[in-house]
Amino acid sequence: MDDTLTVHAHLTGAVVRGAGRGHGLGFPTANVAADPGSRVPPSAIYSGWVVRHSTGVVHQGTISIGSNPTFCDTTDVHVEVYCHDTSDEFYGERVGLWFVARIRDTVKFASPDDLIRAAQQDVLRSEAVLASDRGRRVLTGALDAYGKTVSN
Ligand SMILES: Cc1cc2nc3c(=O)[nH]c(=O)nc-3n(C[C@H](O)[C@H](O)[C@H](O)COP(=O)(O)O)c2cc1C
Repeated sequence: MDDTLTVHAHLTGAVVRGAGRGHGLGFPTANVAADPGSRVPPSAIYSGWVVRHSTGVVHQGTISIGSNPTFCDTTDVHVEVYCHDTSDEFYGERVGLWFVARIRDTVKFASPDDLIRAAQQDVLRSEAVLASDRGRRVLTGALDAYGKTVSN
C-alpha cells in the first residue's frame, strides 16, 4: 500500500457508458469522464469514496485508472469505479472520487479469471483502507467539501 498519494486528492466528472464488460466479470463499474482540468492520478488501482453530487450519497469504491490492458481494447485511460455497497447504475450523474490509497499497479492479466481473482483481493483491501483512520479522514474531508456532516 502506498501512502504517498496526496491526501484528499479527488476528481469530479460525469458517469458515462463503458464497454459493458464489467457485469460479466462480476465487477460492474461506473465509468467516469473526468472534468477538463481534473488531475487524474497515475494508472493504478485505488481505494476511494464516491460522492454522488445530486444526492450527497457516498459509496465505498475501488477505482481502476488505466487502459484495461488485459483486454487490449484501447489506449485511452479509463477512470472506473466499482462501488462495493450498491448495484445502482448512475449513468449521467455527476460524481466526485476521493482517493484514499493506491492499492497496486494495473496489470495485463493472462486471463479474465486472473483479473477477477485480483479484483476480489483489491476490494477486500479497499474495504480495510476505507474503514481505517485515514479512510475516515478522507471521508470527513469529502463531506466537509460538500457541506455535510459524517453520519456513517
Ligand atoms: C477492482 C478492479 C481492478 C481492476 N484491475 C485491472 C487490472 O489490473 N488490469 C486490467 O486490465 N483491468 C483492470 N480493471 C478494469 C477492468 O478491465 C474493467 O473494469 C473491465 O474491463 C470493464 O470495463 P467496462 O466498464 O468498460 O466494461 C480493474 C477493475 C476493477 C473494478
